[in-house]
Amino acid sequence: MGYLCLLLPLFLAATAWSKFVLQPGPFLKLPDRNNRYTVNNGAANKASYDNQENYLYVIGYKADLLHIVNMTDPNTPQLIASKYFQMVNMGLPDSVKVCRGGTNREFLAISFESVGQLEKSHVYLFQLFDSTNYDGPLVNLKAHATVEGFDPRDMGWKRDCSELLVLSEGNPHEVNGIFTDPPATMDILIPSFGNNVDKITVPIIESDLEAANVRYIFQQCEGDGDSTERSSRVQDLEPKAVYVDRNDIAFVVFQDNNAMGTLNMSDPFAKMQYYDLGRKDWSSFGLDGSYDDGGLNLKSRMLQSFYQPRDLDGVYVDGKLWLVTADAGSIRKYSLSSCSFDESSTARNWNQPFADGLTAAEVQQLDSDMNSNAEIGRLSVSKLRQSSDGWDSAFQGYDFVCTYGGRGFSIIDPATMSRVFDSGDDFERYYTSLDATEPQKAIFNAKVGGYSTAQSSQVDRASPEQGPQPSNIAVVQRSDSTSLVVIANGVTGGLYTYSVTSGPVVNFEGFVRRGQPGLSWTEAYAMDSDAVGEPHITDLLTFEDQGQTTVVAVSSTAGAISIYRVEEV
Ligand SMILES: *[C@@H]1O[C@H](CO)[C@@H](O)[C@H](O)[C@H]1NC(C)=O
Ligand SMILES: *[C@@H]1O[C@H](CO)[C@@H](O)[C@H](O)[C@H]1NC(C)=O
Repeated sequence: MGYLCLLLPLFLAATAWSKFVLQPGPFLKLPDRNNRYTVNNGAANKASYDNQENYLYVIGYKADLLHIVNMTDPNTPQLIASKYFQMVNMGLPDSVKVCRGGTNREFLAISFESVGQLEKSHVYLFQLFDSTNYDGPLVNLKAHATVEGFDPRDMGWKRDCSELLVLSEGNPHEVNGIFTDPPATMDILIPSFGNNVDKITVPIIESDLEAANVRYIFQQCEGDGDSTERSSRVQDLEPKAVYVDRNDIAFVVFQDNNAMGTLNMSDPFAKMQYYDLGRKDWSSFGLDGSYDDGGLNLKSRMLQSFYQPRDLDGVYVDGKLWLVTADAGSIRKYSLSSCSFDESSTARNWNQPFADGLTAAEVQQLDSDMNSNAEIGRLSVSKLRQSSDGWDSAFQGYDFVCTYGGRGFSIIDPATMSRVFDSGDDFERYYTSLDATEPQKAIFNAKVGGYSTAQSSQVDRASPEQGPQPSNIAVVQRSDSTSLVVIANGVTGGLYTYSVTSGPVVNFEGFVRRGQPGLSWTEAYAMDSDAVGEPHITDLLTFEDQGQTTVVAVSSTAGAISIYRVEEV
């Protein structure tokens, strides 16, 4: 963690710079296919923006639809058309990506997962909406293809729209009651003449994953009567998000596996390279690991955690690329009738032997904290017997105890795949600052409870569950040397902002959250305002268009898009 010592003085020196603020703008609730407006109607999960025609495409997984929002005037967005998909033939939409790369290279790509994941997924390439070809809710299909995976999570276009990388997680599920754990798959779709789509399946090689020390979580179900089939590293690998840089290098995060991969999309023979994302040491940062400790209470701990980013983006500073990651954390658990599995236990129930990585005094302190709910007794920690998780096979004990999520964001240098910045405990520490408002403090590390309960009713409950769980990250490129990084709180909603300038020098800019904590989710939703806020943000977009810089957060639980303007003060 030497880099943190290097960066700290720079961080302090940068505080005199102009400040960026996110100014809350329109808040658009979207209807389901029966035109119902209710909390959690499944009408908004992911979005993609076409900055030539100014349309925002929003897919709703559960509602099985696409909404098209006219953003020509970003201050008065209008829902202009909706397309309902056919659940039986097409399935449920799970990712969307617009691409414009010249004549005949303009696509709206939407991936679909079949109901129950009984069949492989399809990717449909639609024609983009344009003002000269406006024919109501119909979006014309150009081509479609079947991919090898069952559950696409994200897609990334090559800059010229000649290739689309589709990532599928391959989550275990049951087919006719039989346990199945499909491998992770990464397909490259190449739209060719007419409505043909060629496909290359990127090889994922077991020994490459092992050599790169990629975390291997699920090997076999645990309970009596469960499936005894073993899962390989390729089956265990779970790609979550992709970012394609200016040179068409795809960077993929494997969240649970705590790893990143790179793939050169211009090289048809390229293999993916894998990198371990390392662990965070909490002995020098505070975290709130308990809801039995009277509220907001950060303490440094003798714990490590897996960064486990759920999302990533790229930021160019003076021509050099840096990767930014939203370090959410994730615990692998299955409870199917044919398979139960949980890689974790609460610290209180952990009951594992220690090895020689900690001193006797450290073990005593840690053991006592792990056995107290007011300390970290309810925190989830890994019980995998692997070196990545602290297991020392020579001593048959743990050298350290590991929990989940970085509770912040990181900057990674793609040249070395090393972390050059970590936001430490900023995301939780913010609530102890003078900038934190009372309504914000009322939802500190809150979970989303029943929809008839107040937004603040579960305050502090997410503390032992990865805290802020940053779910999405997006970058606004202000100039060659200044960018703004926006990171979503994946539970209660709200956005953290940081500026990144030459160096990179990183400066915390602020936190903003919409919503009225005293109201229930249902009451707040019924109001003609943004009172419901952005519970469970599942996508985050930024664009500079129509004379302003816009940030769009998609809240899956509100079924809404929340729009902000970036201002410099
Ligand atoms: C989109 O909005 C602009 C400005 O508000 C308007 O002029 C235009 O007609 C709208 N387009 C559609 C297709 O509704
Ligand atoms: C990617 O592959 C292409 C084609 O082989 C090559 O020209 C290019 O230099 C590669 N890019 C990187 C960054 O390795």
